[in-house]
Amino acid sequence: MDSTIDDIIVGQSAPVKELKRLIEVVAPSPTSVLVLGETGTGKELVARAVHAASGRSGRLVSVNCAAIPSELLESEIFGHEKGAFTGADKPREGRVELARGGTLFLDEIGDMPLPLQTKLLRVLEDRKVQRVGGNDEIAVDFRLVCATHQNIQSRVDEGAFRADLFYRINVFPVQVPSLAERHVDIPLIAAAIMNSLAKAQNSTAPTLDDSAMAELSRYTWPGNVRELRNVLERAMVMFPSQPITATQVRDNLLRMKAPDRAEEMDALWEASQGLGGVDIMTESSEPPLPHPAHYADWFSYFESIDLRRHLRDIEVVLIEAALTKSDGMVSQAAEALKLRRTTLIEKMKKLMIERPGQSDSHGNAAE
Ligand SMILES: Nc1ncnc2c1ncn2[C@@H]1O[C@H](COP(=O)(O)OP(=O)(O)OP(=O)(O)O)[C@@H](O)[C@H]1O
Ligand SMILES: [Mg+2]
Repeated sequence: MDSTIDDIIVGQSAPVKELKRLIEVVAPSPTSVLVLGETGTGKELVARAVHAASGRSGRLVSVNCAAIPSELLESEIFGHEKGAFTGADKPREGRVELARGGTLFLDEIGDMPLPLQTKLLRVLEDRKVQRVGGNDEIAVDFRLVCATHQNIQSRVDEGAFRADLFYRINVFPVQVPSLAERHVDIPLIAAAIMNSLAKAQNSTAPTLDDSAMAELSRYTWPGNVRELRNVLERAMVMFPSQPITATQVRDNLLRMKAPDRAEEMDALWEASQGLGGVDIMTESSEPPLPHPAHYADWFSYFESIDLRRHLRDIEVVLIEAALTKSDGMVSQAAEALKLRRTTLIEKMKKLMIERPGQSDSHGNAAE
């Protein structure tokens, strides 16, 4: 079993160090913690780290408020007495009681139905639970950690989340950074994930060379660490115990290899990865660009986008593709990009893009 914050949360980047420092500070106190962050950033790991570093002897008991149907959620959290409802043939402790002496982790708290929010508020005020169908008030000592990928403040403004409960749970907010904000940690995190996958599957992990790592490091990861994990799992299946280079990352891992004609669209595909439901137009009369209108749906799938980074990535990919097509001839590439030659040269400098075949002069252009 892992035991320290460092074992649980892999990474040494500045935002991750800050995250670990916050956890270390808050863990021993009884204070409620609210873990915020995009999907797949590791909110559940933060809850585990808080519990592990708390010194509390009880268990970490989790409830995913979004995964349990609302009719069952009440008895799941608060327990029930015999005969409380059809099928309740035995009394049952709820998760609050199971977390006695330990930590209760309410995941996706933003999805908790309003009537349960009221009940939870009372439990937090009195530190006593009343089971469904029961009259007794049972005192429980537990530490509360909540998590959500939603903007709870806007749920409060919409009237979907109680403001008084929000203030109760938001005593110590902890923001988990997106993977793009800590891309320097990608090699470390990838190694840790591959080790654990190799152990679990009793196989040997493939080795990623520097070019493969650079490719992974500059992708935008809208699905964060979970998406990285999926990509690495795919790598274990497709390239067991084999070396992996940038080409495989691009062609087989960040997307599944598509037949022939798509070859020339590689770069564009890559630039549009993670855009939920984006199709690349395949009509030969049309340029193979994702239509800008497809970005309109972005926020139906994701909480945020690092716009500057995304636009920059698209720029890098298109400039590199144009230079490759022109065999490194800058004026031809500029023409293909409808840019002035001097503008292209400026951009190449700023984005550290080298002409194909010149990459040994200044080291790796990728960050
Ligand atoms: N720093 C890290 N080092 C290693 N693995 C990590 C790290 N952060 C997250 N993971 C892994 O990424 C996956 C997603 O993490 P987790 O479930 O904690 O994210 P989450 O923020 O709760 O996601 P969601 O919002 O989708 O519930 C898990 O498999 C977890 O083990
Ligand atoms: Mg989660």
